[in-house]
This record gives sequence, structure tokens and C-alpha cells, in this order.
Amino acid sequence: MTVRILGIETSCDETAAAVVEEGSTIISNVVASQNEIHAQYGGIYPEIASRVHIETIHNIVTTALSEAHVSLDDISAVAVTRGPGLIGSLLVGINTAKGIALGRQIPLIGINHLEGHIYSLWLSEHADKVEFPVLALIVSGGHTEMLLIKDHMQYKRLGGTLDDAAGEAFDKVGRLLGLPYPGGPNLEKASLMGNSSIFDFPRVWLDNSWDFSFSGLKTAVVREVQQRFPELDLGRSASSVDLPVADLAASFQAAVVDVLKEKSVQAAEKYNAKCIFVSGGVSANTTLREAISDRAGDLPVYFPPKFLCTDNASMIAAAGHQRFEAGQRDDWNMDAKPSWPLGL
Ligand code: KG4
Ligand code: ZN
Repeated sequence: MTVRILGIETSCDETAAAVVEEGSTIISNVVASQNEIHAQYGGIYPEIASRVHIETIHNIVTTALSEAHVSLDDISAVAVTRGPGLIGSLLVGINTAKGIALGRQIPLIGINHLEGHIYSLWLSEHADKVEFPVLALIVSGGHTEMLLIKDHMQYKRLGGTLDDAAGEAFDKVGRLLGLPYPGGPNLEKASLMGNSSIFDFPRVWLDNSWDFSFSGLKTAVVREVQQRFPELDLGRSASSVDLPVADLAASFQAAVVDVLKEKSVQAAEKYNAKCIFVSGGVSANTTLREAISDRAGDLPVYFPPKFLCTDNASMIAAAGHQRFEAGQRDDWNMDAKPSWPLGL
């Protein structure tokens, strides 16, 4: 019988549900983004995020089932993001999943969101080529994590950000430059018209560690802007001021990309990884994709298809499939884990 997992993801500001068959075939993938709502605050407003999840989740799950042309009778298990994430947001997905699983007497499977990003690899065209160990770099709005995937569901955490996540740095600098939220994709767009060697922003290497730090880079961009426009109110949009936005964006992006590229390829070499997999929202960035692939040479570098880079429920269902096959069954009193490291 076909194993068909219903995935639910509400860890941050996307309300998502999906149906995935056999851990690799997406039958439906529905994502409602709250970007427009949070754009007016320049970042995610947690209480609003959870309220919007409550209003949206029923419709998203129903749509995921109807687009997949299945009913709950055809679902083998419900996989839901248990953490890490915003507590109020996580609870909406968890409680929905519990309701479905309890009502239908089917298994409930709690998934680590980071493991979800990792399992987007098995939803990509490269799934058949994957050999372990895999060097995984997860770069998103909430996380910058580097792990060695030794086998399915076996991780060794190598390092992560000590301060801002890579996507968070994109979002903060985007805001500073007067670009709309979320900063990442808009900053990438702005950088296309810019020269990345105009500003020499710092690359923080943190020698002898696989950790990252991006807050100094963000501060360097703030200083550059302040020096040019001392009267600028940094809390406000800079769009009315004549900033060299494209050059600042390109130079900032180059600094982030240099560090991510260099450290991930060095780690892959050190741990004899058979390939590198970069996932999470920032992995949609074309400059990052090209830079890591170039630097890695013969070592294959894989990325999810762009629609699976940012948060979605297909990746949660794909991870859920692995865990379902491995026999994981969670209790009805499963709690949310707002902080939940992967691979300690
Ligand atoms: O994976 P994701 O949806 O959420 C988290 O799990 O955090 O990632 C969202 C992040 C945001 O910070 C967004 O600005 C960033 O990914 N992002 C990008 C790009 N597209 C999304 N950053 C750089 N370049 C992009 N093209
Ligand atoms: Zn994510």
C-alpha cells in the first residue's frame, strides 16, 4: 500500500500543508505566506503570526487534500513541525495535526523543522544520486546550521551562527536599505544592478570553528550608511535617501556568500562528504548557488527546487515518511519544542 503522509508546517509565518507519497512524490503543496501582513512591521510579529495561522490552517489542510484528490481515509500518518520555531505558531500546527490523527486514529509524527529542510533534498531531482555523508548547510531566516548527514536521520552538528542567521542579516540590511520585506529576495534583485567590489565589508571567518557570525557585517553596513547620511533615521525606510543601494546590496551579499561558500566547501573536504546540500530560504539566492558550485569543483552541490527553499509542508511530510518507516509514533501529549537543536 502506498505510504501517503499529510505534512503540516506552521513554525514561523507560512501556513502550509502538503501530501507526499513514498517520501519523494509531492501530490499537493499548499503554502499561505503572511509576508504581506508582516511587511508593514518590517519583520515577523509573533502574535499576529499565530492568529493568522488559526484563521488559515483549516482551509490550507482542506485544500492540500482536495488538490491531492485524496481524503483523510487515504492518509497513512500526519507529520507536523514540532520545533524549532515560534511557540504560538507551532502550537497551531501541532494541535491541528493532533486533532486529525486522533479523529482518524492514524499516527502522529513530530518533525524537527531543520530535518524538514534537509529532506527537501529527497524531493529534488537529485534524490537518486545522494550518497552519504552529505554536508548540509541550512540557511534561512531563523537558522544558519552546518551538519554532516551520516545516514538517514543521523546528524553530526558542525556549527551554526553565533548571532544573526544569514536570512535575518539579509532581512535587516534590506530594511536598512529601504527595500520591502522580506529583504532576501528583494536585496538579491537590487544587487543585480550593483558592483560587489565597491564596499569592502568584513568576512568573519571564526578560524578553527564551523560557526558563523553575521552581526558584525550588518553593523558594518549600518556604519557605511551612517557615515554617508548622518541625519538618516535608521529605524525608518531609507528609500527617500539617495543611497547607492545596488552597490551596498551587492557588496553585502558578496560578503555573506564568501563565508558560506568557503566554510561549507572546507567542511565538506574535511569530512570527506560525497556532496553538499544547501537548503532553506537563502538557498534560493542565485549568487550563492553559483559561488558554492564553482568553489566546490568536482564535488556535487545540490539545492532544492526554488519553491521548496522557503518553508513548506512537503519537506515536513518527506521527513515524516522516513520517521514513519523507522517506526516513530508520537503521543497525543506531544509538546512543542521552540528550541530544538538537530544533531547534537
Ligand atoms: O526557510 P525560510 O522560509 O524560513 C525560515 O525557516 O527561517 O527562509 C526565509 C528567509 C528570509 O530571511 C528571506 O529573506 C530569505 O530566506 N531568502 C533569501 C532569498 N529568498 C529568501 N535570502 C537571500 N536571497 C534570496 N533569494
Ligand atoms: Zn525554514
